[in-house]
Amino acid sequence: MVFVPYVPTPYQVVRAMLKLANAGPDDIVYDLGCGDGRILIVAVKEFNVKKAVGVEKDQQLYKLASTRMIDEGIANKASVVYGDFFEVDISEATIVTLFLLTSVNEMLKPKLERELRDGVRIVSHEFRIPGWKPAREIDVRDENGLLHKVYLYVKGSHREQ
Ligand SMILES: C[S@@+](CC[C@H](N)C(=O)[O-])C[C@H]1O[C@@H](n2cnc3c(N)ncnc32)[C@H](O)[C@@H]1O
Repeated sequence: MVFVPYVPTPYQVVRAMLKLANAGPDDIVYDLGCGDGRILIVAVKEFNVKKAVGVEKDQQLYKLASTRMIDEGIANKASVVYGDFFEVDISEATIVTLFLLTSVNEMLKPKLERELRDGVRIVSHEFRIPGWKPAREIDVRDENGLLHKVYLYVKGSHREQ
C-alpha cells in the first residue's frame, strides 16, 4: 500500500475546490483521506452542503477531525469514518475531494468508475487522475502566495477521446 503523508490543503484552496465543484445544498461531499476535516467544515459551513463525510485511516487525525465536527457544531451534517477509503462505500457522493498522489488516484480509478454516478464531480488538489480528461483545471494562490493546481473531473465525461 502506498503511504500518503498528511499535508493539509490551505483554506483558500479548499474554498476554490468546492467552488469549482459548484458545491451547494443538494450535495453530499466525500473527502477521501480527510486529515483534520477542514474540507468537511468548509463544505458545511460555507457551502451549506447537505452532508459531508470524511474517511481517514490515521487514528490521531480521525480523532482530531471527529472532535472538530462536534466543536464546529456540524456533527448533525458531517461525520468521519475511521478506516481505509478503498474499503468504504462512496456511492452516495455527489462530490468527491482528493489530495493524495497521482499513483493513488490511479489506484482509485476502478472504485470511482464502479461506485460514482454520472454527473458526480471529483476535485483533486495538485494531482491528476491519470488517463481521465479534466473538465477544468485552475491555479489557486494560497495565503502564502504559493500556486496550487486544482483539477475538476465530471463522471460521465471524464474519459479521454
Ligand atoms: C495529503 S493529506 C490531505 C488531507 C485533507 N484531505 C486535506 O486536503 O486537507 C492525505 C490524507 O489521506 C490519508 N490517507 C491516505 N491513504 C488513506 C487511505 N487509504 N484511507 C484513508 N485515509 C488515507 C492520510 O492519512 C492523510 O491524512
